[in-house]
Amino acid sequence: MITALRGMKDILPPQNQKFEYFIKNTSKIVKKYGFEFIETPLLEETSLFKRSVGESSDIVGKEMYQFKDKGGNDVCLRPEGTAGVVRAFVEKKLDRIGGINRFFYYGPMFRYERPQKGRFRQFHQFGVESFGVESHYEDANIILMTKEILDFFGINYSLKLNSLGCEDCMTPYRKELITFLDTITDDLCPDCQRRKETNPIRVFDCKNEQCQALLNPAPRLNQNLCEKCDTHFNALRTILDKQNVKYEVDPNLVRGLDYYNQTAFEFISGDLGAQNAVAGGGRYDKLVSFLDGKETPAIGFAIGIERLLEMIEIPQEQRKGYYFGALCPQAIGIVFDAASKQRKTDIVTLSYEKKSLKAHLKAADKAGARYCAVIGEDELENQTIWIKDLQEKTEFTAPLS
Ligand code: HAM
Repeated sequence: MITALRGMKDILPPQNQKFEYFIKNTSKIVKKYGFEFIETPLLEETSLFKRSVGESSDIVGKEMYQFKDKGGNDVCLRPEGTAGVVRAFVEKKLDRIGGINRFFYYGPMFRYERPQKGRFRQFHQFGVESFGVESHYEDANIILMTKEILDFFGINYSLKLNSLGCEDCMTPYRKELITFLDTITDDLCPDCQRRKETNPIRVFDCKNEQCQALLNPAPRLNQNLCEKCDTHFNALRTILDKQNVKYEVDPNLVRGLDYYNQTAFEFISGDLGAQNAVAGGGRYDKLVSFLDGKETPAIGFAIGIERLLEMIEIPQEQRKGYYFGALCPQAIGIVFDAASKQRKTDIVTLSYEKKSLKAHLKAADKAGARYCAVIGEDELENQTIWIKDLQEKTEFTAPLS
């Protein structure tokens, strides 16, 4: 038997309903904030991710589904959505036109990671990218929007916030950090020794307890920000405080992708287990110019859909439409006609089989229908239809007409 590849899953019932429920409601929320739908290809040139996500990241270093296509091009399945959206933004010259552009997208991402609970090789993200606003108000807007989405679905979360500075403060800070790391190099894990050479701030992301203990006295970027970045970060914090958004400043939050500057954030949930990040994002003001566009401030985030779906239930009132069924063979034709008529205005699931009332009710429940409508011998004789409202738990008989 051929099975799905390790770390890849089908979206089948009941997850399919949750998936649609999530997409529909999240799209509605982000549209309120002025975001428009964008779709970019799943397959991109490998160099796109090398230049944006960064060669030092685990994603590019170890996890890409990379191959040569039949034309000999070095391509890879997208490990994340931001790079593709920025590529499209530059390719369509939206950077030249200027103004504000806000996009949202959802779809599969691919990372060759070790699969475990909440971590897949093919997973789905819902992401947003906002271009053209430098103000910290946009950072606040994006965080409030993420919060609104998580609140809508009743998720328990905490918010971690950090500032990753800019070139002006990051360059001297990096030197200072390397000087510190030189004093502990031999005791660091091999990964951190590599990180020290490629992107030293990544050491803060290390899960190794010994490394974390050694890093305790390390200088932290959020205490070495330049005036501009410090002001930006404090202004953002002031807005979040005013809006009663609870957060923790986490100097270890460096994110797993290289393109960020200034604001970085993650929403984590204690209901998730080890893979506890449900959404993450931040500002990436240099990425557009890095991908040959005109320098454009930008910020975005992505939600891990599988992780979020694990924590939500579809509320009962989401039951929709009708389920039609026949209790005796003679009723099938009439049920078929009634279903066709009702379908003009409602969602209708139709069973062509004669079944017991209990079996029909069960099938209607499974189909997520609000009403289960059946016709049996009595109803045929009286030209009526029996209907149960599965939400209100009431039942009644109505004339077939
Ligand atoms: P990320 O933090 O790498 O950010 O991924 C965002 C979310 O995707 C994570 O918080 C997590 O919920 C989910 N996720 C990541 N890897 C996996 C996996 N292997 N299995 C299941 N879920 C996973 C980004 O990808 C950035 N592009 C976000 C962004 C948009 N930043 C700015 N704009």
